[in-house]
Amino acid sequence: MNIIEFEDKEQLGKEAAALIARTIASKPDAVLGLATGGTPLDTYQELIHLYQSQQLSFKQTKTVNLDEYAGLDPDHENSYMTYMKRHLFDHIDLPQDQYFLPNGASPDLEKECLRYDQLIQDIGGIDLQLLGIGQNGHIGFNEPGTPFNSKTHVVKLDENTRQANARYFSSIDEVPTHAITMGIASILSSKKILLLASGKSKAKVIQYLEQTEIHPDFPASALKLHEDVTILIDREAGSLR
Ligand code: PGA
Repeated sequence: MNIIEFEDKEQLGKEAAALIARTIASKPDAVLGLATGGTPLDTYQELIHLYQSQQLSFKQTKTVNLDEYAGLDPDHENSYMTYMKRHLFDHIDLPQDQYFLPNGASPDLEKECLRYDQLIQDIGGIDLQLLGIGQNGHIGFNEPGTPFNSKTHVVKLDENTRQANARYFSSIDEVPTHAITMGIASILSSKKILLLASGKSKAKVIQYLEQTEIHPDFPASALKLHEDVTILIDREAGSLR
């Protein structure tokens, strides 16, 4: 794992976007794995800027997101589909039929997981997977204890995770209890992985990630099994190293 520290989250976002732009420059039809949450927002803003200033086009690119809440319609204001449209897709030239998220509103979630794995395979696998990290070490919605050989699956969300995400909902009761997430094996099968962490609230988890052994109780430790992982952090997230 190659860890690079930046002054602040804006710098970090610029570098992450530059890395994504370089991936697309060398392979215009690259498949990007995308993430939601607070952390990638600066990266998405910078990608929009690069597109608007004609330095980057997504016309041939395809994207697959890590996860989606179960039980929310894609049009729901808190779905990850809505997040992605609001913060990225609606502002760039990525064609509508080239971005994909799991469908959390599917009547058969197990079947939806299989469909999503097949889709990722059919579009050629992920070239670059963007990741955040939860305070409990989760990646995607792979909570502690998730087997490393897991593919896309339905998960029950940790109370910890529901509380962290409650800020986007009007009350904790509205936060879904389940989600669909790519599994750890799905993430590890990406050619390249880019994990971002910013702010004081991530300092402990970054310190732990660096020091810990590989163990399913700390899902992000699985990244140590991958040969091409870059971790970008800001000074606050690196403050306990
Ligand atoms: P955050 O979420 O970017 O909102 O901190 C990251 C995560 O939980 O994976």
